[in-house]
Amino acid sequence: MNACCLEAASAQHVALERFAADVRAGLAGPGQKSLPPSYLYDALGSSLFEAITCLPEYGVWRAERRVLERCADDVAALCAADTIVEFGSGSATKTRLVLEALLRRRRLAYVAIDVSAGALAASRSTLRDLDGLSARFVEADYLPGFERAVAARGAGERFLVLFLGGSLGNFAAVEALRWLRCVRRGLRPGDALLLGADLDKPAQQLLPAYADPLGVTAAFNLNLLVRMNRELGADFDLSRFRHRARFDPRTRDVEMHVESTCAQRVRFARLDLSVSFAAGETIHTESSHKYHVEEVDDLAGAAGFRCVQGWRDREWPFLLALYSAA
Ligand code: AVI
Repeated sequence: MNACCLEAASAQHVALERFAADVRAGLAGPGQKSLPPSYLYDALGSSLFEAITCLPEYGVWRAERRVLERCADDVAALCAADTIVEFGSGSATKTRLVLEALLRRRRLAYVAIDVSAGALAASRSTLRDLDGLSARFVEADYLPGFERAVAARGAGERFLVLFLGGSLGNFAAVEALRWLRCVRRGLRPGDALLLGADLDKPAQQLLPAYADPLGVTAAFNLNLLVRMNRELGADFDLSRFRHRARFDPRTRDVEMHVESTCAQRVRFARLDLSVSFAAGETIHTESSHKYHVEEVDDLAGAAGFRCVQGWRDREWPFLLALYSAA
């Protein structure tokens, strides 16, 4: 095995150990069972999320694209970046709008950081034909990937960090602030952050976006059980679990859960672990917070960013805001 394969094999081993530890912590103890939402994005999960973005009920993706179509040139005029670092590039279809606008002004370096190799391959293919772009695709968790980009940065380089899609809402409030602070710490004054945030809206508009009649979001959610069966030797029987989405208007969180339809026990052969489920008991797999505009500005301000300009979609309330590292 050469050094590169060894490194990949050991990274895979570390990732599996961490998954095992998160499963033990999230499923074996008393109280609400939960798992970090990042585990939804294995290769199939990433493809299912791409399918979600095409659903008529899921307005988030199209709202952000409409905003970007309107404001990409303004963003390019307002920031002097020559290196774009993106967290969670997905298929990079929307990223392309920003890059094209910036490339009309100068040559660019682009670093995509994503946990999903499939998403990175899709980004590579979307951006392949952009002249003047030198792109790197980093398969890593966001912050370690960002630290690598920061360590490799040249003296005069100006960063624009992209965090699109409303993924900020998938962090708990304290984590969102901690995360933005970590990003800010890696930036220099004059660098910028372009941040997307899904805004609050009525439950009858939100819920079908997370419980679509075609069942794509259900498949995205239940795929987490498939992943545990494959990677940890679990024996989840998918016919005994179902997808649940609920919205709490007080916290403004849409929560996704996997619900056990009966009392049962699931065994994880590779962990020497058994987990019991009562009928109706759930695993909380994701929260998606719906912001107020001031809340996003306050959060970014508390992390050391200054708002340069914000743009909103009216059809599906969504905010895209450009911040500078104060
Ligand atoms: C990636 N993230 C912004 C999506 C959201 O809307 O919170 C994930 C998602 N979960 C279910 N549908 C979409």
